[in-house]
Amino acid sequence: MKRVLLSTLVASLPAVAMAADAEKVVEARQGYFSLVALEFGPLAAMAKGEMPYDAAAATAHAADLVALTKYNPGDLYAAGTAEGEAKGSHAKAAIWTDMSAYQAKGVAFFEAIAALEPAAGAGQKELAAAVGKVGATCKSCHDDFRAKD
Ligand code: HEC
Repeated sequence: MKRVLLSTLVASLPAVAMAADAEKVVEARQGYFSLVALEFGPLAAMAKGEMPYDAAAATAHAADLVALTKYNPGDLYAAGTAEGEAKGSHAKAAIWTDMSAYQAKGVAFFEAIAALEPAAGAGQKELAAAVGKVGATCKSCHDDFRAKD
C-alpha cells in the first residue's frame, strides 16, 4: 500500500513541477508586458495632452522602454504556456505555430521604440507622433496574438 502511494506520488511529481514552471513563465511574461505598459502609459498620456509634456520624464520613460527591448524574451515563450495550457495565460497558441509572424510583430515594436527614444525629448508633437507608431505596434500584436479576457 505504502509502495503504491509512493509510486503514484513520484509519478505525479514531474507533471506538478511542470505546471508550476509554466505558471511562473506566464507570470514573468505578463510582468514583462506590465513593465512595458508602466513605462508607455505616461508617454501616451503626454501624447494625448492628458499629462503635461515633460521632456526629461519622457526621455527617461523612453530609455526604460529601450532597456526592455534589450532583454532577450526567449525564456518568456517556453512551450506549454499558451492560453488553455497554463493558468492565466492570454497568449494565443498562434505564437508557437506561427513564431516568425510573432517575431515580426516584435521587430516592428522594437523599431518603433528605437525611433521613440530621440523623439521623446524633442517636443510634444514629436513625442505624440512616435507614441502613435509604438501604440500601433502594441495593437497589431495584441489583435493577432493576445487572447481577450
Ligand atoms: C510582439 C507582440 C506584442 C507586442 C508588440 C506588445 N504586446 Fe502586450 N502582450 C502580448 C501578449 C502575447 C500578451 C499576453 C501575455 C500572457 O497573457 O501570457 C500581452 C499582454 C499585455 C498586457 C497584460 C499583462 C498582464 O498583466 O496580463 C499589457 C498591459 C500589455 N500587453 C501592454 C502592451 C503595450 C502597452 C504594448 C506596446 C507599448 C505591448 N503590450 C506590445 C503581446 C505583445
